[in-house]
Amino acid sequence: MREVMDLEVFATAEEAGARVADLAAQQVENFPRSVLGLATGSTPIPIYEGIVRHVRAGRITLAQVTTFNLDEYVGLGPDDPHSFAFYMRQHLFGPLALNPAQTFMPPNQGPDLKTRAPSYDRLIEGRGGIDWQLLGIGRNGHIGFNEPGTPFDSETHIAALSDSTRRANAPWFDNDWDRVPRQAVTMGLATIMRSRAIVLAAFGEDKADALAQAFRGPLTPEVPASVLRSHPSVVVIADRAAARLLAPSRGAYPV
Ligand code: F6R
Repeated sequence: MREVMDLEVFATAEEAGARVADLAAQQVENFPRSVLGLATGSTPIPIYEGIVRHVRAGRITLAQVTTFNLDEYVGLGPDDPHSFAFYMRQHLFGPLALNPAQTFMPPNQGPDLKTRAPSYDRLIEGRGGIDWQLLGIGRNGHIGFNEPGTPFDSETHIAALSDSTRRANAPWFDNDWDRVPRQAVTMGLATIMRSRAIVLAAFGEDKADALAQAFRGPLTPEVPASVLRSHPSVVVIADRAAARLLAPSRGAYPV
């Protein structure tokens, strides 16, 4: 078991985000038909800006990729500005004019959602599986919306969001955490672990404890991101503040 994943640390979130965008561009340059797993939240914003820059500069095209998002709030329609579908159109799919047929979000509406949720895993498998998965990390160590206690063998499922997660996401809801949905559909930990390569991005001081617990503490469902230590291809890209409690394991660290 590795103590720390391949870790690269940058002075700022902007530089770290640009590095993740470079890794995404390399993946798509080498494999234009890649299946990408995508995240939402504040962390991917500089990353998606970087990817859009690469496309506009003519270095890559996303015309042939397929994307699967990690998670979506239960019950929000795609035109709801709080939905992750809306976020993705705003930050990546819209600026790049991706065909909606290439981009998938987990099912998040309808009465039989509990039984339909795992069908997302079958859809992913039907497209050949995820080649390159982008992850953020929650302050409580969640990945996707797999909150502490989620079994390592979970597939896509409905997750109850913890108070900590709902408070962390309140800024997207006029700082009123009461308005943050209580449930989301999320890829499970087994779904994420089936990805061929994983890049976990963590920016800011409030991610330092979660990173340290995930990569230095015990391998336990109480820290969902700790499961990544048993994956053969994980790179952690962090800014200096988030990496404060981790020692770099390789590479050049412009800090
Ligand atoms: C989002 C997701 C979450 C976030 C995490 C960090 O699709 O799956 O795990 O990556 O909550 O969120 P930010 O980046 O807003 O700190």
